[in-house]
Amino acid sequence: MNEREPKNDIKLDDNCRNSDENSVIIQDHKIKLDENCRVFDMKNDEKCRNLDVNSVIIHDNLFNNDEICRNNNMKDDNCRNNKIRFDEKRRKYDKKCLEEQKDNLLQGIKDYAKENFIPIVREDTAKRLAVVCRDYSPNKILEIGTAIGYSGIIMLKNCSAHLFTIEKEGERASLAEENFKSYNFSDRVTQFVDDAQIVIEKMCNSGEKFDLIFLDGPKGQYVKYYPYLKKLLAKGGVLFCDNINLLGYVKQEGKIPHKHRSMVNNLRKFIEILQNDSDFETEFYDIDDGYSISKKVF
Ligand SMILES: C[S@@+](CC[C@H](N)C(=O)[O-])C[C@H]1O[C@@H](n2cnc3c(N)ncnc32)[C@H](O)[C@@H]1O
Repeated sequence: MNEREPKNDIKLDDNCRNSDENSVIIQDHKIKLDENCRVFDMKNDEKCRNLDVNSVIIHDNLFNNDEICRNNNMKDDNCRNNKIRFDEKRRKYDKKCLEEQKDNLLQGIKDYAKENFIPIVREDTAKRLAVVCRDYSPNKILEIGTAIGYSGIIMLKNCSAHLFTIEKEGERASLAEENFKSYNFSDRVTQFVDDAQIVIEKMCNSGEKFDLIFLDGPKGQYVKYYPYLKKLLAKGGVLFCDNINLLGYVKQEGKIPHKHRSMVNNLRKFIEILQNDSDFETEFYDIDDGYSISKKVF
């Protein structure tokens, strides 16, 4: 038998599930598997593209077929869930491939930010943010300061939450939109291109609640945002604030350069508020540019 000849034609049940182990259905298209269970024939459309004989792209996600693991079936609902039942070995294999591919993309975003002087979360802080997302599994995240989506992508990669993110600079927000799209995260993100104060006030008025708030916007405004963010955070939720040391100036004794002075004073007030608010359990970290993690206990 020619290796590239279909072993079987597929038959569909009413739920668009394949009726045998030799094929899968993706967005109503037949994908035939060869005798080694590799995908080798598929009809193309914008969202479902044939990548090569060993893999397919489904809504921009890469799924590789290796020789030992079988593709069983894919749920319908126009593939939106991208849920494919794999055996355990297959699942691990796909996850690894997917992460390798996406990490290259993330590095590209990081490089772009550096080349264009766009401030983004530093490495160890980003790692901690990822851990917080994994540990708390938030359903709803609010981010102040989208920039080009770097930290947003890190959070989305590490939990299944929906991200609401605010950025006042349109050009950065557009780049973030593109970057979220590259990760197929568009459905999980709501972007606001506006001043954060305006957005959070509106959110408070409509009674919104979030499980995680990542505060990474204008440093001089943290104090002003604080009562709104506290109201927006659900009980048990986490407030993660970046850059609370502001290049070391916050802890520095003596004269602070004029251009940083009001920001530093505001950050000092903010830290004092956090330390004294018994509704929060707060830890401060002298890592990177300094960050705090506060759990809302009441
Ligand atoms: C440190 S950057 C955010 C980095 C991003 N969180 C990341 O790690 O990828 C801060 C962002 O806040 C935005 N920003 C500053 N003032 C703002 C305001 N008043 N409202 C909304 N966004 C603001 C800036 O344009 C900037 O892109």
